[in-house]
Amino acid sequence: MIQAFRERFGAQGEVRVYRAPGRTNLIGEHTDYNLGFVMPVALQLATFIATAPSGDGMLRIYSEGFDEQREWPVTKIAELEPAKHWTDYPIGVAKQLLRAGYEIAPANLLIRSTVPEGSGLSSSAALEVSTALALLNGRAIDPLELALLCQRAEREYVGVPSGIMDQYISVFGRENTAIEIDCRSLKHRDVRLPKGVALLATNTMVKHALGSSAYRDRVRECATAVELIAKTYPQVASLRDVSPEQFEAVENKLPEPVRRRARHVVTEDDRVNRFVEAAEAGRLEEMGQLMVASHRSLQRDYEVSCAELDFLVDTALGMEGVIGARMTGGGFGGCTVTMLRPESVAGFAEKIRGLYEQQFNLTPQIYPCKPSEGAGEIHQMDAIPPVSIGQ
Ligand code: GLA
Repeated sequence: MIQAFRERFGAQGEVRVYRAPGRTNLIGEHTDYNLGFVMPVALQLATFIATAPSGDGMLRIYSEGFDEQREWPVTKIAELEPAKHWTDYPIGVAKQLLRAGYEIAPANLLIRSTVPEGSGLSSSAALEVSTALALLNGRAIDPLELALLCQRAEREYVGVPSGIMDQYISVFGRENTAIEIDCRSLKHRDVRLPKGVALLATNTMVKHALGSSAYRDRVRECATAVELIAKTYPQVASLRDVSPEQFEAVENKLPEPVRRRARHVVTEDDRVNRFVEAAEAGRLEEMGQLMVASHRSLQRDYEVSCAELDFLVDTALGMEGVIGARMTGGGFGGCTVTMLRPESVAGFAEKIRGLYEQQFNLTPQIYPCKPSEGAGEIHQMDAIPPVSIGQ
């Protein structure tokens, strides 16, 4: 990667490389912007950025994935407007850094990513966080400030009203462990997965256009639910504050589909907490059941699944060694996450690939989800793992 950088930008100066991972979420979907609980793992799939000072007043960014290069005088960054282009992510981050008082030094950046774009594995947060580190190029930043600043870039510049999960896990991910994030206190704790389980993400290879408008609709529907529930329980400031019992007491006062949206969020927060307990006690079967219950709730109450995701979940559930499966991420395509016995991984991958091909005429990529370290500078590039199993 450093060689590719030098070939493109010339040989002077020290080239440093930063990495930020994608994620898969085990449980707790569409709860983050409701200030509830999520339980993601950082992946080995990651975005890597090589950088060195440009020395000519310009910020120059090249993406290998898009094979495109753009450049701006650093003095103009504060005035840039969104361009509906992939560079909105790095530029949004640069603008947030400026706003937080960090100077943007003239630099060249080369971006290489193994997080498949549009897969629901959070390629955007990986790009945001790696860009922030590359632009800081060794300057210190508080990790929570880093995650929040990248989330603001996405909300304010890219224009997606997303929660904090993706940027947070990209920063705070840890090797060999999932983390449970409390999206209100913005604190987390490690949750070690029991021995004898493997995690796989299976990519539907589709991304339905409905996704981004539906995401906004869900954010709005949840806000409506909060307003209505607060008439009975004035202390309720977000769906996080509503217990399953309180929800039962007020649900008849909520119109559809707001009622089902709120029911998903309230029951999903409860499932995260039960999942954490089950994981800590090594109760695999219960973990699997909670994953499936989460999927059904996303499918029927939250209505963010799709035929491809449902097919992968339903098919996985009948297969040998599978403990649980559900969609992961925003929905409307992207990936499912499957928890299974390690000895069943190879057979599972081969079989589900064949069945999905038959049904949809698309070859799903399948990624191992070994919990990996959060973002930082890296010194060794031979650690990039294979992208998809068995292909
Ligand atoms: C997307 C958003 C996250 C989260 C998930 C759904 O990935 O970026 O903030 O809301 O959807 O859980």
